[in-house]
Amino acid sequence: MKDDIEESPEKDEFNGDDLANEYNSDIDNLEKRTLDSKRIRIIDESKKKAVIESVLDERTHELLGKLLVNGSLESITGIISAGKEANVYLAYDQNHKEVAVKIYKIDTNTSKWMRNYIIGDPRFKKVPHNISKIIFLWASKEYKNLKRAHRVGLTVPEPILIKNNVLIMEYIGFGSIPAPKLKNIKNPKDVDILFDEILKFVKDLYQNARLVHGDLSEFNILYHNQKPVIIDISQAVDIQHPKAEIYLVRDIKNIFNYFGKQGLNLPDPKSFYYEVIDI
Ligand SMILES: Nc1ncnc2c1ncn2[C@@H]1O[C@H](COP(=O)(O)OP(=O)(O)OP(=O)(O)O)[C@@H](O)[C@H]1O
Ligand SMILES: [Mg+2]
Repeated sequence: MKDDIEESPEKDEFNGDDLANEYNSDIDNLEKRTLDSKRIRIIDESKKKAVIESVLDERTHELLGKLLVNGSLESITGIISAGKEANVYLAYDQNHKEVAVKIYKIDTNTSKWMRNYIIGDPRFKKVPHNISKIIFLWASKEYKNLKRAHRVGLTVPEPILIKNNVLIMEYIGFGSIPAPKLKNIKNPKDVDILFDEILKFVKDLYQNARLVHGDLSEFNILYHNQKPVIIDISQAVDIQHPKAEIYLVRDIKNIFNYFGKQGLNLPDPKSFYYEVIDI
């Protein structure tokens, strides 16, 4: 899949070295200094320092400054989620449209298990040793996976830009309220239809995007407009990956488990598995 190993088109957007100096600030002084005080408005001030310190190492900090200056982002207004591997922020683009910004943490522990999903994927021939580089590769993997899925019409957030550990993508939600996870929906409407839509996603992802999600469950499905939008696709592997079938079985199990608990009469998961891999 040649088009999946292409460099992202945003490659040349960052050439202002003079800007780098402007944002070369010390994390401890973050509160006092202006990261870009005119443009960044972090709503929850109490969380601000902790959140920024947990994820914004100096380079990420600098990169966000550049994204704000070059117009990729107009403002970052608040945090949607603080996770183990990444934080997700609500931001606005230059047309004042909401976007989601996922910032991956540069962390030794996470970079270790990430290797399992990178080694064996034909798209990634070399696995870097450097922690930051693994994380950057991981972030670009999510971008590429989103691209592949979006290109074949699947309901995932449209990827907008990837640079190092920062991924900008379509925001799923209404105004400043992000869409809830399926896990947090008490009684989803028409569960049978929802189940079919998710099964179709799994099948189309495999057959058309040639990917296996690898972490599919009610935790990584947003419920928007009574439709499922699948997120968190960084670990998704090419179907040629040696563990693709194992991950597929796990995804199918998770989905069948969830819908079983919703009281749905389930078809045979094995037949569904064979239906998916029967290209
Ligand atoms: N495009 C988006 N639009 C709106 N909300 C989003 C978007 N992407 C992610 N989120 C929110 O951020 C949360 C974390 O995102 P994601 O699952 O991709 O990251 P993660 O690193 O796996 O975090 P976690 O460990 O919490 O699952 C999601 O559960 C969802 O609530
Ligand atoms: Mg997740």
